[in-house]
Amino acid sequence: MENDVAKILITEEQLQERIAELGKQISKEYKGNRPLLVCILKGGILFLSDLMRYITIPHEIDFMDISSYGAGTESSGVVRILKDLDANIAGRHVLIVEDIIDTGHTLDYILRNLSTREPASLRICTLLSKPARREKDVPLEYVGFEIPNEFVIGYGLDFAEIYRNLRYIGVLKPEKYVTQD
Ligand code: PRP
Repeated sequence: MENDVAKILITEEQLQERIAELGKQISKEYKGNRPLLVCILKGGILFLSDLMRYITIPHEIDFMDISSYGAGTESSGVVRILKDLDANIAGRHVLIVEDIIDTGHTLDYILRNLSTREPASLRICTLLSKPARREKDVPLEYVGFEIPNEFVIGYGLDFAEIYRNLRYIGVLKPEKYVTQD
């Protein structure tokens, strides 16, 4: 698996250091509000599990699974809910926890959907953002790292469902995902 990585973009140490900062900031800004962290499956799970360990205030977690219709690695902009939240978020302070914002279509849909449920607040915390790919403008309150337009894997992010367990963010070697005609 490690042999498929062209280069390491963000090391394990850099990830942990930045996630600790985010945890501290969230703890300060949500003090007294008992936030609900909503993890978007599956890519967000490693980020959520580390982030919550750096959050020092009482909080809850919940999960949502979204599928985008469309071929290959491109987000089509058409999404559907595979697993909805367990919690009723009316009046709650909701913080969405994502691994990456690419085109922005997924989060645009989630924001529109969850805002109809009348949360007290609704904000986004994403580990990675790829601004060069954005098609929908989504407000990002907490961003771990802005990254270039490269095919990234690891720390929750997959290619064909593998590499999620890598402890760093790496760039996949092109020969691993370019189809041979
Ligand atoms: C990724 C990521 C976001 C979405 C971002 O999920 O976790 O949910 O794509 O792309 P967008 O900004 O272009 O909409 P993916 O569909 O790969 O599912 P996974 O997390 O289960 O791997």
